[in-house]
Amino acid sequence: AIDIKQLRGQTGAITLDPGYKNTGACESAITFLDGEKGILRYRGYSIEELAEKADFLEVCYLLIFGELPNKSQLQKFNTDILDQSIVNEDMKTVLNGFPESAHPMGVLSSLTSALTAFNPKSVNVESEEDMYRAIVKILAKFPVLAAWTLRQKKSQALYNKDMNIGYVESLLKMMFQEGKTYKLNKKVVNALDKLLILHADHEQNCSTSTVRIVGSSHAGLFASISAGVSALWGPLHGGANQAVIEMLEEIKADGGDTSKFIAKAKDKDDPFRLMGFGHRVYKNFDPRAKIIKKAADEVLEQLGVEDPILEIAKGLEKAALEDEYFIERKLYPNVDFYSGIIYRAMGIPTEMFTVMFAVGRLPGWIAQWREMRLRKEPIGRPRQVYIGENHRKFKEIENR
Ligand code: ACO
Repeated sequence: AIDIKQLRGQTGAITLDPGYKNTGACESAITFLDGEKGILRYRGYSIEELAEKADFLEVCYLLIFGELPNKSQLQKFNTDILDQSIVNEDMKTVLNGFPESAHPMGVLSSLTSALTAFNPKSVNVESEEDMYRAIVKILAKFPVLAAWTLRQKKSQALYNKDMNIGYVESLLKMMFQEGKTYKLNKKVVNALDKLLILHADHEQNCSTSTVRIVGSSHAGLFASISAGVSALWGPLHGGANQAVIEMLEEIKADGGDTSKFIAKAKDKDDPFRLMGFGHRVYKNFDPRAKIIKKAADEVLEQLGVEDPILEIAKGLEKAALEDEYFIERKLYPNVDFYSGIIYRAMGIPTEMFTVMFAVGRLPGWIAQWREMRLRKEPIGRPRQVYIGENHRKFKEIENR
């Protein structure tokens, strides 16, 4: 491990690496990723095994604290989260200030940032105890806010967490309950649990790097997470899950011919990209996409849903994987390619897909923020290579 102190005061040549394609920004013990072999592990445990055997709250604990919790640790963690799950009533006023047309990701980012105002003590984290308090608060309140972004769009009543059911189930209940009525579908809960685990961390991606860099100025956990939500929103990152479904819908409306869209994606004069395809790190296959593709078949069958766009997606994948352009560039389906089809089968509206991703990624953001603070990393501050004007003399306005 590098001793950060040894680098103190060192300056020298600047490495120019737009998009940080080959730049390591930190050392991390959280997530291991081998893009060539398609390996993904959280704290040493394979994603395949975690998705099959663990539940989301256990994975949250694992990512944040480094070990799988035993029964009493998990129980305490759950109780601490439940104790913090009531969201201040005044937050509803903030929420209701948004037009119903607002995108839920914009609303979620704003609400997460607003949480700081209602919990000012969460900003200055001097000790691990302070950190723990901030962590359980955001884990508790974030799913409530996520559910509220959906309810507000539909002008429906807002609910707090049901204290007697699990983390993922209560998220679904807050999203879909009508009055006191909510019909639990265990299959939906299990499928969502699995999806959230698969999204829970992915080392130094765009939103996680954002969380680390914002947190490095000691801005506080909630402000850092809010910035992470904004970064995730973009269609080249988490927003791809919404964009994939919109693309598949467009192909369907166009008669289902995928070749036209493949040609568009290959055309360098056309900004269109095959959404849900390609990845900065995976150059063989995305192990999450493999699990999700299989889960999509299972979930749709279990729920008795027939969705024609699943076949379109499979056809598009097959055509792309046989195409020289995609082979040469090592472009494969990523985590977002099939996830939207599952969310849709669960009755989750398209605009909410990236919000679901954010709920899943929350423990990863928290773990990375905590690691960064515990390691006392310096403020993130990249350099540049200046290519602008040389020294110029000021011109009075009448002479411009
Ligand atoms: N469709 C068509 N061409 C593509 C695609 C795509 N989806 N993805 C990459 N390419 C092409 C590029 O045009 C480029 O071609 P060139 O070498 O001829 O110029 C080459 O493949 C390399 O692509 P880059 O953009 O340089 O790769 P980068 O690592 O910067 O981008 C990214 C990765 C953003 C994921 C990209 O593949 C993409 O835009 N995919 C579509 C959006 C998407 O699905 N995002 C979700 C990613 S997963 C996640 O964030 C959760």
